[in-house]
Amino acid sequence: MLRAAHVADVFRLQEIERAAAELFRGSELIDIDAMSVVAMGDHVHSIEQDLSIVAEVEGRVAGFVMGEMHFDDAYLHELDVDPAFGRRGVGAALVERFREAAKAKGARAVYLSTFRTPPWNAPFYRKLGFVDVAREDYLPWMSDIAREQAKILDIETRVFMRVGV
Ligand SMILES: CC(C)(COP(=O)(O)OP(=O)(O)OC[C@H]1O[C@@H](n2cnc3c(N)ncnc32)[C@H](O)[C@@H]1OP(=O)(O)O)[C@@H](O)C(=O)NCCC(=O)NCCS
Repeated sequence: MLRAAHVADVFRLQEIERAAAELFRGSELIDIDAMSVVAMGDHVHSIEQDLSIVAEVEGRVAGFVMGEMHFDDAYLHELDVDPAFGRRGVGAALVERFREAAKAKGARAVYLSTFRTPPWNAPFYRKLGFVDVAREDYLPWMSDIAREQAKILDIETRVFMRVGV
């Protein structure tokens, strides 16, 4: 079951983000033990914009997607599924619902930034219709995000992707 996230969900969402990040352990893409999770304020902002959705499976919050509007486009900021509930289509269902929520907000497209190679990152989104955005086509707000990411990640490992709504 998919539903709008509530502020009371946020600690569980942060727990899911940490659990999901374990998929990257050993990959050298992120320092899992040093990583931060999406801050409470960002979750609240996303909830207020109706762009935060949770998936419940067997009575538990099993995954979430959240994001925000940037001018006329929606940015999918974070998507995580608790590995205990992984590979059951929850992630794909959340992305599809986020797309619908973005459309309801009047967005032209959904953008996101992800790693190029792990099968649950760019290849996963490609299966859902997303295409890569060339660096010269970045919108100014995307370049701002890329600059922030460059402080903690190897930007060459990352790609922006886009899908129309
Ligand atoms: C990305 C993520 C949300 C997908 O959630 P999910 O509920 O497992 O996704 P779905 O079941 O809808 O689809 C899974 C598809 O992704 C790919 N995938 C996911 N996990 C994978 C893994 N461990 N190995 C290989 N492929 C994987 C496969 O293509 C899979 O399809 P399949 O099961 O039919 O082979 C989840 O893997 C996750 O939380 N990952 C860690 C956090 C992350 O990278 N988030 C995205 C940030 S941009």
